[in-house]
Amino acid sequence: MKTINVIGCGNVGKTLSRLWTRHRVFKVQSILNRSLESGLRAVQFVGSGRAVRDYAQLERADLVMISASDEAIRACCEQLCLAGILEEGVIVFHLSGSLPSTLLEPAGAEGALVASVHPVKSFADPLRAVETFAGTFCAVEGDPQACEAIRGALDPCGATTFPVDPHFKTVYHAATVVVSNYLVALMEVGLRCFEKAAIPRETAIEIIRPIATGTLDNVFELGTVAALTGPIARGESSVVARQGEALAKWDEAIRSVYGSLGQIAVELSAAQGHADPEALAAIKRMLEP
Ligand SMILES: NC(=O)c1ccc[n+]([C@@H]2O[C@H](COP(=O)([O-])OP(=O)(O)OC[C@H]3O[C@@H](n4cnc5c(N)ncnc54)[C@H](OP(=O)(O)O)[C@@H]3O)[C@@H](O)[C@H]2O)c1
Repeated sequence: MKTINVIGCGNVGKTLSRLWTRHRVFKVQSILNRSLESGLRAVQFVGSGRAVRDYAQLERADLVMISASDEAIRACCEQLCLAGILEEGVIVFHLSGSLPSTLLEPAGAEGALVASVHPVKSFADPLRAVETFAGTFCAVEGDPQACEAIRGALDPCGATTFPVDPHFKTVYHAATVVVSNYLVALMEVGLRCFEKAAIPRETAIEIIRPIATGTLDNVFELGTVAALTGPIARGESSVVARQGEALAKWDEAIRSVYGSLGQIAVELSAAQGHADPEALAAIKRMLEP
């Protein structure tokens, strides 16, 4: 079985290491975190490996996963190179969604094959992430041979891999931020509006559950154009005008979100073709900042 060292074994590192141990894909060897205590906890979670204090204690391995936080990846890679354990053909990869594999170029200069893997999943709780990992989509880019090996390691864990152009990784990652993190922020905006309308948050969260989940179902089943309903889909400029004014009087930040997203909704409505084009043009103007 191929061996793997893990540098920065936190939420994602622990999840992948435990999955690879469970599916007998890799033998997890050395685990290096900032503190030895954290490394020891990671070893316990993974069910394999040995926590080490520094780079000098790393054993040789076929692969090295740098699963430290984004800002630490480059420094970890440089320290790994200084340790002098990288042999020709060792695969070194990181897990950042926004940074390219070329960040690992110091390892490449030592003869390593470098890549990046970004699982499109929220790893808030590693235990839960292990059990729900199957079905996760993972963006893979880098050296073709390294990508091939990583795809082969993710397959037994039930992941689906797809290629991503390293030049567009930042925008690609912004997409995942918008559909996940910003969706949460958008729900918060809606809840604040309910509260402003004197509907308590506990009631509001129950009110939005069916409409929010139903809308998401519509997006996945029908696409964004057909899923759009409401005043902008109908071209009702007077409704949009009143809402914009009411929000502007109360909270400029919320009015700004309403305006920016409304302009995208105008584009979707135009693509539907049901609303009066003149009404949509008027709505677009009134939604401008
Ligand atoms: N979280 C997600 O949902 C998610 C999803 C996809 C991809 N990612 C990517 O996965 C990577 C890891 O994220 P994460 O959420 O797993 O982070 P995390 O839970 O904060 O874990 C980071 C780990 O890296 C260690 N570390 C930090 N700096 C280090 C250094 N200089 N040397 C050695 N170890 C170091 C930390 O050690 P200590 O425990 O000792 O502090 C910690 O164990 C990031 O590139 C992130 O962008 C995250």
